[in-house]
Amino acid sequence: MSPRTDSSLLVDDIGELVTNVAGTGEGGPLGIRRGAAVLIEGDRIAWVGPAKYAPAADRRIDVGGAAVLPGFVDSHAHLVFAGDRAAEFAARMAGQPYTGGGIRTTVAATRAASDDELRANVARLHREALRQGTTTIEIKSGYGLSVAEEARSLRIAREFTSETTFLGAHVVPTEYADRPDDYVGLVCGPMLRAALPYARWIDVFCERGAFDADHTRAILTVGQAAGLGVRVHANQLGPGPGVQLAVEVGAASVDHCTHLSDTDIEALASTTVDWVSGPETTTVATLLPGAEFSTRSPYPDARRLLDAGVTVALATDCNPGSSYTSSMPFCVALAVREMGMTPAEAVWAATAGGARSLRRDDVGVLRPGARADLVVLDAPSHLHLAYRPGVPLISKVLHNGVPQ
Ligand code: NIG
Ligand code: FE
Repeated sequence: MSPRTDSSLLVDDIGELVTNVAGTGEGGPLGIRRGAAVLIEGDRIAWVGPAKYAPAADRRIDVGGAAVLPGFVDSHAHLVFAGDRAAEFAARMAGQPYTGGGIRTTVAATRAASDDELRANVARLHREALRQGTTTIEIKSGYGLSVAEEARSLRIAREFTSETTFLGAHVVPTEYADRPDDYVGLVCGPMLRAALPYARWIDVFCERGAFDADHTRAILTVGQAAGLGVRVHANQLGPGPGVQLAVEVGAASVDHCTHLSDTDIEALASTTVDWVSGPETTTVATLLPGAEFSTRSPYPDARRLLDAGVTVALATDCNPGSSYTSSMPFCVALAVREMGMTPAEAVWAATAGGARSLRRDDVGVLRPGARADLVVLDAPSHLHLAYRPGVPLISKVLHNGVPQ
C-alpha cells in the first residue's frame, strides 16, 4: 500500500468535470462543472468545487484543462478462464453463428489450468481494464461448473474485487448433458454452499440451450434466500422469459436485453422508483455491445429502453467467447454509434449506470464521501470518448485516491 494514502491530493485545473450528481452544473444527469478541482483525502473525495476556491493540499496534479470523469464501473465481466477462442471468432466472421456452445471449450481449458495460471490471467485482464479507466469491476465464475471449480473461480475472483458473481448456471456441463435437473439440484445445493463465502451475487444464463424459466427461477430464488443479490443473463440470443423473471424476483440487473418485447420493456419500467435525483428503475438493463460486435449480431435498442424510462448500464461482458474486450471506452463508442445513445447517456451508463446495477452509491459519482476513483482524459470533453473511437484517451487513472 502507498505510504501516502492518508495525505491530501488536489486534482486541479479540470476543464470539464463529469460528477454524475444530477441537478448540479450542466449536462442533466452528468452534472458537468467547468473550471473545477477535486480534493482527495485518503481513498475518498473530500471536496468538489471551482478551482479558484480549491483548498490547500499536500500534493497537486494539474490536468491542464482536460476532462475528468468518474472511473468506469464495468458491472459484467467473465475474467476467470483459461485459453482463448480466437478460431471460433474467425469462424464467426466467416459466417458461423454464435450459439454459446463454445462455453464448454473454455470450461475444459479452465478446469485444466492451475490456480496460478487462472490468477495470472485475471490479473492481466484486470490491469488491462484499469489502464482503460475501469476502477470497479464485477467478475463472474461460470467456467468451472463443478462444486470445487466454481468455488475456486470465485476465490480467485475475490482476490481482485468484492463484486463477485456465482454463475454455476452458465450452461449444463457435458457430464450432466442428459440430466439437467440433477445439475440444477447441484447448483442449488452443494455448489451454492461452496460459492457463498466468495460471492455477492448469483446469475443464471436464461436462454434456449442454457437454462429455462423454471430452472432459472429455482436457482435465483434459492440464491436470494441465501443472501445473494440477483443478476440475470437474458434475451441475448432470442426472445425469452429472462427479463420478466428478473423483474419478478427483484434482480438488480438484467443483462444483454438484445431481443425485447413490449411486455419486457413494460416489466422493466414497472420497477421505477422516485429518488431525489429523479425516477430510476430498480432492475437495470445492462447492455453489452461488445457481444453484438464480436458475434456480428444486431445491437440492443437502447433508445427504446431509455424512452420507456428504464435505467441503462453499459458493460464489457469481457470473456473469451462472445466479447473479448476489457474496454469501456470501446463500449461507449459502440453504444453511441450503434444503439441510439447520446454520448452523455452512454458515459452515464458506463459509470453511474454500472453503479446502479451493482447497487452501489459510492462509485460512478464524484461527490464528497464517494470513492476517489477518477479518470483523466487526454481530451477536453467526455464527448471525445465516442467521437474518437479506438484512441487511447485515458491519460491518468486514480483508484482509491492512488494514481495508477
Ligand atoms: O455473456 N451468454 C453467456 N455467457 C457469455 C458468453 C460466454 C462464452 O461464450 O464463453 C456472455 O456472452
Ligand atoms: Fe456475460
